[in-house]
Amino acid sequence: MKTVEESSRWEVLWVNAHLATFAPDSGGPEGGIGYGEILQGALGTKEGRITWIGPQSDLPAEPEQCAQIVRDAEGSWITPGLVDSHTHLVFAGDRSGEFERRLRGVTYEEIAREGGGIRSTVAATRGAGEAELVQGASRRLADFLNEGVTTIEVKSGYGLEVETELKMLRAARRLEGLHPIQVRTTLLGAHALPPEYDRRREEYVRLVCEEMIPRAAEEGLADAVDAFCEGIGFDRSECEQVLRAAELSGLPVKLHADQLSDLSGASLAAEMGCLSADHLEYTSRQGAEAMAEAGTVAVLLPGAFYYLREKRLPPIELFREHGVPMAVATDCNPGSSPITSVLFTLNLACTLFRLTPEEALTGVTRNGALALGLLEDRGTLEVGKRADLALWDVGHPRELCYWIGPNPLREVVWGGDTTSLRE
Ligand code: NIG
Ligand code: FE
Repeated sequence: MKTVEESSRWEVLWVNAHLATFAPDSGGPEGGIGYGEILQGALGTKEGRITWIGPQSDLPAEPEQCAQIVRDAEGSWITPGLVDSHTHLVFAGDRSGEFERRLRGVTYEEIAREGGGIRSTVAATRGAGEAELVQGASRRLADFLNEGVTTIEVKSGYGLEVETELKMLRAARRLEGLHPIQVRTTLLGAHALPPEYDRRREEYVRLVCEEMIPRAAEEGLADAVDAFCEGIGFDRSECEQVLRAAELSGLPVKLHADQLSDLSGASLAAEMGCLSADHLEYTSRQGAEAMAEAGTVAVLLPGAFYYLREKRLPPIELFREHGVPMAVATDCNPGSSPITSVLFTLNLACTLFRLTPEEALTGVTRNGALALGLLEDRGTLEVGKRADLALWDVGHPRELCYWIGPNPLREVVWGGDTTSLRE
C-alpha cells in the first residue's frame, strides 16, 4: 500500500460522495453546460482550498493515508457553496401593505410615482440605526445560510443620502464577521430619486458621482457600483454618469437594466464593461448581442418577475444562442421580491423562465461567481478554489430545482471549515 508524506496530507477528505463540479469543461448531454458529475467521487481540502477532486477509485492511496480527517458523505451530492449575486438584504420595515394594494390592481410603478415603493423603504431605513439594520439582515441571512449559500451580494440603495448609504454598506460588511458567509457589497446610490431632490435630478446624480461613490471607495465599503436604469429610476445618460464615476474610483460596475421597459440598459451595461446586467425582461436583440460581445453576465431575477406578475420574459433564447452566461439570484428586497429562498428561486427560474435545472444551478454557482467577478476563486469545484461546499441529501442535483418546501441541505463547508452548519 502506498504511503503519503505527513506534510502533503490533506486536512479533510470527503469520500462516498457524488460531485456536481460545474467546472467549465463539464459539457452536458445535448450540448448543455453540464453539472460536471463525478459519481462515487472524493474531494480533499487543505488550508481552506480544494486540493484534490476525482473518482474515489483514483485516490493516490487509501483515504486514511491521504488526509487527517476522512468524512463519509453517505452518498450525498456535493455542489459548490451557492452564490446569490443580487440582493437588497439590508433594509428596514416591510411593504406588505403595498403588496395588498398591488393585488387590488395598483401597479408597482404607480405606487412608486405616488412616493411609495422604494421611497417608503428609504424612510424606514434612514430612521434605523446600524445595529438594527444588521439585526434585520442577519435574520434574513439565516435563511440563505440554511440553504447552502456561502457568498452573497448585498446592495445599498435605501439611503439615497451619503451617510445612510454608507451606514447600509457598513451594516452589510458587518454581516461577514457574524456569519460564515462572504459578503460582496454594492453601492446603489442611484436607485431612486430621494424626495428632497424632486426637480433637482442633476444635483442628485452629481451627489452620487462626486460624493457617494468616492466616499464608499475611499472607506473600502463598496466592492462595486450599480444603478437602476428605468423610468422610475434613472435614464440611460444619468446611469452612464454614475458608472463612469465608479470607473474613476476604480470600482467594478453592474446595472439594473430593462426591468419594466427598454431604455437600452443592457447595451449601456455592455458598453461600460459591467460585470452584469440584471433583470433584462425588456432587453432587445441588440442588447443581448452587445452583452455577448462584451462578456456581460445576465443576472435573471425570477422572484421579481413573479411578485410583480410580469408578462414579458427576458430573452433567454437569445442569451443561449449567443452564449451570454446566465446567473440566477433572489433579488431579496421588501418591494419586488420579498424572497429569502434560493431553492424556491431556482424553481421559479425553471418554471417561469424555462431554464433547465443545470442552467439554473449554474446560475447560482459558476455564473453567480462570474457576475461578482469571483470566478477565479469560487463557483465551481476545482483544485485551488476556496473550499466552499454544500452537501445535499438528494438523488440528483436537479432535485434542488424540483421540490418546493423540503430543504435537503445536509452540511455546509465554508472555506474548508467543517463546523459551519448542520453537523
Ligand atoms: O431589483 N428594481 C429595482 N430595485 C429592486 C426593487 C427595490 C424595491 O422595490 O424596493 C429590484 O427589484
Ligand atoms: Fe434589485
